[in-house]
Amino acid sequence: MKGVGKFGEVLAGEKGKVSYDALAERLDKIIHSGSQKKAITDFVCRELRKIPHYSWVGIYEVQGGDLVLTSWSGPSATQHVRIPVGQGICGAAVTAKDTIVVPDVNADPRYLACFLNTASEIVVPVLKGGEAVAEIDIDSDQRNAFAAGDRRFLASVAEELATLL
Ligand code: SME
Repeated sequence: MKGVGKFGEVLAGEKGKVSYDALAERLDKIIHSGSQKKAITDFVCRELRKIPHYSWVGIYEVQGGDLVLTSWSGPSATQHVRIPVGQGICGAAVTAKDTIVVPDVNADPRYLACFLNTASEIVVPVLKGGEAVAEIDIDSDQRNAFAAGDRRFLASVAEELATLL
């Protein structure tokens, strides 16, 4: 992939061309816009899903011992709107306070199935004062879809979201 700007990738796919840097700039603007929190997280999910290999995007917030789905964008709704922190890839990322990439969800016993088409997943925690307060959960229909560039890009989005959540 071509090296351009901070996050270094421009992808082309069925959703058209997407510049990670232009996207990061749009997300920064909206996150710091002062708009209502839910409107912002909805927007962030919609914008992230413009990246061709991001099939479903959700933001979960930590509430007590559960992860609660606050915003999502994708072809269909998930039944996992509340996930105990001890369960799933989602729970594992919060417990680890670190990004988890699962290249093949069918090979990971932690995986909580949502969509038939999901082949890989990335979960990026939003850390605040050393604690996970939320997370970005992304499913891809492609196996092994998430690379180092996605990790870096999404870690930076999570860092911005920490100022809001
Ligand atoms: N697959 C996740 C559950 C959430 S859905 O992907 C929307 C997990 O294993 O935690």
